[in-house]
Amino acid sequence: MLSYQHIYHAGNLADVQKHTLLAWALEYLTQKDKPLSYIETHAGRGLYQLDAAEAVRTGEAAAGIERVQHEGWFEGEHPMSRALEAVRSRHGATAYPGSPLIAASLLRSQDSLHLAELHPQEHAALALALSTYEAKAYRQDGFELAQSLLPPTPRRGLMLIDPSYEVKADYDRLPKVIAKLHRKWNVGVIALWYPILTDGHHQVMITALKAQNLPKAICHEVRFPPARKNHRMVGSGMFIINAPFGIESETQRLSSLFSGL
Ligand SMILES: C[S@@+](CC[C@H](N)C(=O)[O-])C[C@H]1O[C@@H](n2cnc3c(N)ncnc32)[C@H](O)[C@@H]1O
Repeated sequence: MLSYQHIYHAGNLADVQKHTLLAWALEYLTQKDKPLSYIETHAGRGLYQLDAAEAVRTGEAAAGIERVQHEGWFEGEHPMSRALEAVRSRHGATAYPGSPLIAASLLRSQDSLHLAELHPQEHAALALALSTYEAKAYRQDGFELAQSLLPPTPRRGLMLIDPSYEVKADYDRLPKVIAKLHRKWNVGVIALWYPILTDGHHQVMITALKAQNLPKAICHEVRFPPARKNHRMVGSGMFIINAPFGIESETQRLSSLFSGL
C-alpha cells in the first residue's frame, strides 16, 4: 500500500480549502500567549515545488493555488499568504507548503509540533523540510502516534487528520477513532479533511460523525470542477471539533469564493 504521493495534488483546490482553514485556525489559536501543541497524523513531505514534473503533469496546482492567488483570494495579512511568503522566501517562488510547513511557519517557539508520516521517502523529505524548525517527524502510524500523545503537553492545540483514503475502511473507522481521540483530549481542536467523490462515499462517515454530537463541531464543504475529465473528486470537506470561535466568517468567505469558480 502507501502508493499515494501528495506531490501530484499539492496546491489543488482541496488543499486550498484545507490549508486556508488550517492557517486561519492556527492564527486564531496563536492570538493568546499560551503555548500549544500541533499534531498531524498524515503529514506528507511538507514542502513541494509546483514546477516539479509530477505537479505540472496533473495541472492541479495551476487550477488551484496558482489560480486563486492570481484572483486575490489571500490579500495582505491573511495567514495563508503569510505562510506562502515565509516558505517562498526560503525555498523559491514555486515552493508550496504542505500542512506541516504551514503550521511551522505560523507557530511560535513556545509551541510543539508532532508529525507522523509512514512512507519512508515522504518521511525523509519531511524530516529535511522541517529540520530548521523545532518539530518532531515520526515514521509511525498517525493514529498510533495520536493515541500515544494525547492529552499532549501543552494541552491547548490542534490536530489535523488528513488521510489519503487509500484504504476504504478509513471512512468506516474514522468516526470511532475521532470519538476516542476526543475523549482523551476534550479541549483539543480536531480537524478531519475528506474528499467529496462522485460516489458520495463520505456521506456515511459524516452522518456518523454528526450523530456523535461532538462539541462545537462544524462541517464545511466546497465543490469545484474536477481536475480532469472523469476525475472522481468534485469537492472537499473539513469536519472540525472545538472549532475556533469565529471560523464561520472564513468558511463563509471560502464558500462564496469557491461557488464563483
Ligand atoms: C494527503 S497526504 C498528506 C498531505 C498533507 N497533510 C498536506 O496537506 O500537506 C497523506 C499522507 O499520509 C501518509 N500516510 C498514509 N497512511 C499513513 C498512516 N497510517 N500514518 C501516517 N501517515 C500515513 C501518506 O504516505 C501520505 O504522505
